[in-house]
Amino acid sequence: MAGNRTFTMIKPDAVEDGHIGGILEQITASGFRIVAMKLTQMTQRDAETFYAIHKERPFFGELVEFMTRGPIVAAILEKDNAVEDFRTLIGATNPEEAAEGTIRKKYAKSIGENAVHGSDSDENAQIEGAFHFAGREMF
Ligand code: PPS
Repeated sequence: MAGNRTFTMIKPDAVEDGHIGGILEQITASGFRIVAMKLTQMTQRDAETFYAIHKERPFFGELVEFMTRGPIVAAILEKDNAVEDFRTLIGATNPEEAAEGTIRKKYAKSIGENAVHGSDSDENAQIEGAFHFAGREMF
């Protein structure tokens, strides 16, 4: 059975460009409830741990550098079928392939600077949410 929570980050590019409000508006208008949220900045160690699954990929260094260069908004979101529905809402990793109206189509600049993260499974949503939030920060 699909879980009802996912984890997201509004990435440094979208925060720098002033898109926090627009992105959160689209997320909540699409039926997601905010369970936890904060403005924070990942250290190099945080990013290397969070993205450890990608450490052998050629873009790993670039990904870590990008994700640590400024603040992000981290959030846990709740909705039926949250992981799949959120990935539909954000669109493809590469904004050139993202569907019209998706968050990445609107706000992403490139496959690297692509505005938002969305967990790819219920298991990872749980792990990623717990990476950023303590139990008392989830409502
Ligand atoms: S996904 O969504 O996990 O299927 O996407 P994937 O292609 O596996 O990419 C994993 C994360 O790496 C980022 N990425 C890149 N960063 C920099 N340069 C290049 N070329 C690149 N390709 C992919 C991508 O944005 C994914 O980040 P998250 O935070 O998971 O969305």
